Amino acid sequence: MTIKRVGIVGSGIMGAGIAETAAVNGFEVIVRSRSQSTADGMVARVEKSLAKQVDKGKLEAPDRDAALGRVTAVSDLGELAACDLVIESVVEDLAVKKHLFSELDRICGDSTLIATNTSTLPVVELAMETGRPEKVCGIHFFNPAPVMTLVEVVRPLTASDATIASARAFAEACGKTPVEVKDQAGFIVNALLFPYLNNAVRLLENGVATREDIDTAMKGGCGFPMGPFALLDLVGLDTSLAILDALYDEFHDPNYSAAPLLRRMVVAELLGRKSGRGFYDYRK
Ligand SMILES: NC(=O)c1ccc[n+]([C@@H]2O[C@H](COP(=O)([O-])OP(=O)(O)OC[C@H]3O[C@@H](n4cnc5c(N)ncnc54)[C@H](O)[C@@H]3O)[C@@H](O)[C@H]2O)c1
Repeated sequence: MTIKRVGIVGSGIMGAGIAETAAVNGFEVIVRSRSQSTADGMVARVEKSLAKQVDKGKLEAPDRDAALGRVTAVSDLGELAACDLVIESVVEDLAVKKHLFSELDRICGDSTLIATNTSTLPVVELAMETGRPEKVCGIHFFNPAPVMTLVEVVRPLTASDATIASARAFAEACGKTPVEVKDQAGFIVNALLFPYLNNAVRLLENGVATREDIDTAMKGGCGFPMGPFALLDLVGLDTSLAILDALYDEFHDPNYSAAPLLRRMVVAELLGRKSGRGFYDYRK
């Protein structure tokens, strides 16, 4: 099917990034958050991000204005009824996402595809909350969504070929490179990335080196653009912990068993950039 109107549910880091990506690439975007003020705040973040691109000469001012003109902020889920595609990007919590999928199924037109941006959770469980499991898949963007070129298209057992083809076409129309992956925790990237990030926290816990030196080592020694602690702060420590817990639940592999320090930092609300402090301090 041809996708023109896209609904985004969730106004966090990823929701705003996906909304910006879709709007810049010509889609009509409706962003939905639980309150109108957070939905408006999301559009304000998109505006700020686009302004930076204009300043850097990467985007023309009329294109920015056209992209912003395609974005509408709403708080009522019912406003998503006529979307061709809805992408759910709320907190990484299976119970919350399941509830949302059953609501979206009730509200959206029969032809609407419903996708999740989950990093690890079983997409089939979300599909089975709906009366249209063949029209549900994962469309997993990376952070920051406007910059990262990959999209993992996640195929649950229930998805039709037409749904996967539409998801791939949408990712390509957003200027991304899609890869298709089975519905297994962590998909490709996080299944490989998170044991590394978790083991970095263990190195720190064991006093092997400082966080700065571990980050410096992985940048200089492996050519990574950022070290593991800067990356954990960017992803969000709560999201990272949820990813590790979901991986551990699926595989019971000790590599996925979250380092105690990570769990305690989440309890202490040291969540990374989004809360101002994580492994590093961003309050200035
Ligand atoms: N952070 C990353 O690097 C990253 C990358 C790819 C995918 N993801 C996935 O994207 C999704 C969102 O992650 P994020 O990083 O944007 O998180 P975030 O913490 O920045 O935002 C989470 C959003 O969920 C909303 N929310 C919280 N509880 C809710 C509830 N009960 N009902 C409805 N909404 C609720 C919050 O208000 C917020 O808007 C998650 O599934 C995550 O795994 C995250």
